[in-house]
Parts: sequence; C-alpha cells; structure tokens
Amino acid sequence: MLRLRNGPLRHSVATGIIRSFATGRVATSSPWELPTRAARKTVAGINHTEALVRNHRYWVGGLSGNSYRYRDNLRVRGLGRGMATTAAKDDAGEGFSVKSKLKLANGVTMPKIHFGVYEVKPGEETETAVRDALEAGYRAIDSAQGYYNEESCGKAIKGFLTMHPELTREDIFFTTKLRSNSSYVDTRRAIKSSIEKTGLQYLDLYLLHSPYGGPQKRKESWRAVADAVEDGEIRVGGVSNFGVRHLKELLEREKEQSRRPVVNQIEVHPFNANAEITTFCRENGIQIQAYAPLVKGRKFDHPVIKELSKKYGCTPAQLLVRWSLQMGYVPLPKSVRKERIEANKNVEGIEISEEDMKKLEGLDEGLSTSWNPTNAP
Ligand SMILES: NC(=O)c1ccc[n+]([C@@H]2O[C@H](COP(=O)([O-])OP(=O)(O)OC[C@H]3O[C@@H](n4cnc5c(N)ncnc54)[C@H](OP(=O)(O)O)[C@@H]3O)[C@@H](O)[C@H]2O)c1
Repeated sequence: MLRLRNGPLRHSVATGIIRSFATGRVATSSPWELPTRAARKTVAGINHTEALVRNHRYWVGGLSGNSYRYRDNLRVRGLGRGMATTAAKDDAGEGFSVKSKLKLANGVTMPKIHFGVYEVKPGEETETAVRDALEAGYRAIDSAQGYYNEESCGKAIKGFLTMHPELTREDIFFTTKLRSNSSYVDTRRAIKSSIEKTGLQYLDLYLLHSPYGGPQKRKESWRAVADAVEDGEIRVGGVSNFGVRHLKELLEREKEQSRRPVVNQIEVHPFNANAEITTFCRENGIQIQAYAPLVKGRKFDHPVIKELSKKYGCTPAQLLVRWSLQMGYVPLPKSVRKERIEANKNVEGIEISEEDMKKLEGLDEGLSTSWNPTNAP
C-alpha cells in the first residue's frame, strides 16, 4: 500500500506523481492506488465492466477457495475458473484478521474489521475503548457526528500514535458520519468540523448517516461529500442506511465513478440479511459495512448460534464476526470491555463451512436492532 506521511494526497494525472502537500514529499504510484481528487480523472477512465471485475476481485479476496460466497459470487458474475484463480491469488495471505485489508472500488485499501463506538460515552469511556482496540490491533474506528465522541476518538488515536512512533496517521482508518443531510454549505462545514475536532488532518471514510431529509438534501449533502473527496479532506465517500431506491437516485445522478459512493453501511447479520440492498451493492461495486454485527448480543443464546459456536470452538461473537467476513462484509463489532475487544477480533482460525453458512442464512427474520431508515422517502 502506498504510504505518505501527514495529510491528503494529490495526484497529477499528467506526470503520475503523487505529492503529500503537507511534507512536499513525492512518490510515484499506480493511479489505481490513489484516494483523492488526484485520482478522479484516472479512475473515472475505468469503464463499468472493469470496475465490476475489480470489485469482484476485492470482494472475493480473502475468502478461502471452497467457501460458500466465493463460488456463489463467481456464479452471479458468470466468471470462469481462470478469473477465480487470479482473484484468489491477488489477495492470497490477506486472511481475516484485524491486519487484513480489502481494496475498495476507488482503489483505497481499508481494514476488513473495524471497531464501532456507537453508544460509547465521550471522554474517558471512548478514549479507553479506542486505545484498548488499537492496542489489541484494530486499525479502523467507526464513529459519527451523532455519537458525540469524534473528539475523544481523535485524542485516543493521536495518543496511541505518540506511544507507537513506528506507526503513522496513515496506519489508522478513521470513519465518521454526517448527522443530518442538509445544504451543501452546511455539509462542507460539518466535514471540516469533524476534521478539526479529531485533529486527524483528514477523514478516511465519511458517510451520510442516513437517507433522511428527502431527495434534495441527499443530493446537496452528497455533492459536498464528493467535492470534499476531490479536495483531499476525505479519502472515501459513502452512505449509510441507504436503500436501493436511494442508491439508484444517487448513481443515476453521479456518472463518474470517482463521485459515487464506495461504501454503504447497513445493519447486516444472520438475523437480518438485508438481501435486496446487499445484492444491489455487490452488483454496483459498493462495499457493505455491517453494523450491529453481533446483533447487539441479543441472539447469543439462539440454538443455532450456540450449536455452531460449540462446533467451531469459538464464542457467539466470534462466529458472527467470521460470518460477516465470509459474506464479504466489513463488520464493526463494538465493546467497551477490554477482554471482549480483544476476543471479538480473533476469528482467523474459524472457517465456517458452506453447509453452516446456509444454516446461518436460514435465520433471517429481518431483525432491526436500532433504527431502519432504508425505506425513508
Ligand atoms: N450507521 C448506523 O446507522 C449504525 C447503527 C448502529 C451501529 N453502527 C456502528 O456499528 C457498530 C456496531 O453496532 P452496535 O454497537 O449497535 O452493535 P454490536 O457491535 O452488534 O453489539 C454491541 C453490543 O454487544 C455487546 N458485546 C460486544 N462483545 C460482546 C461479547 N463478546 N459478548 C457479549 N456481549 C458483547 C456490547 O456490550 P459491551 O460494550 O458491554 O461489551 C454491546 O452491548 C456501532 O458501534 C457503530 O459504530 C452504525
């Protein structure tokens, strides 16, 4: 992965040179690696089919050769064995750990497991949880303007980096979200405010938290996010709780790949498969981030969860995190307890069989653990 210290990257299409404006350092790279405005023209030059193939490759990446979704995905795409071999090789060795990364449709790499901080109190509680998560090896934190703990996340991340001089800002992937869709100006202001609050110089992923507010506000807020990506304030733009209708509305307007959402964060776990949205996202190069991946701990006593946890010698939380990863999603498990933070991510040794993935698929009951704005007007 391309590493430049301190701040947003810019790219000159003509020269293929990437420059860190903060340091003046220069490096060359494949344009496909580029995250910001920089990449716009080049990435936009990739046609839809190629983008799908690339996305397919990322999505497949990390899944073991005989796993359920791996083969299912090949079938959906109608791709042959040759592609499967290439795809598997591309991400060989990446696996399913907090160190594993996947490549998004805009070329940015992102950790496969993120640490969620919803309902974690600002101040001491967030600072401790984020520090514990980073010490445990997580490298991605999922916050939001509406969680009121962005500042505490930033403080914990900066403190951790000070204690670990071998690591840099680029080693941490920080996500935050716009509380309410509004005007273009207000959204740009909210983005700048999140950057200032965290003191992290830029945001790795910025999401519209929900589709609420109607088409006009969605349009204005998204335009602000896409422009902030071009201006290097954000590396990846995405949405959350967007249903297929909201995604179509956005994709129809934004024809350039570089201005399209790359991530949709929705509730997904075996008890809520959200199949319509996940299928649409898969077909359109949009990575699913799975929130409430542990079903908020509410289904740990379900007979199938208990049976499979016993079979695989893991905790229910680990089984659910592993399920999410094998499905090709990016889970965001949350905990404020150090031992759980440590344990929840240890899923490398578990490999859920095709048969058991099907068994888990059978648990879908459309369960929403918090809100469900995916059908908002
Ligand atoms: N975009 C959105 O609209 C949206 C909505 C919801 C969530 N999210 C994101 O997704 C993240 C995860 O979702 P979530 O926090 O709602 O739910 P979750 O991660 O599914 O579950 C968290 C709950 O499970 C408990 N827990 C964690 N590990 C456990 C373990 N090993 N054994 C028993 N209980 C355990 C936690 O309690 P303790 O903390 O006490 O361990 C907490 O009550 C959030 O933090 C947030 O970042 C986004």
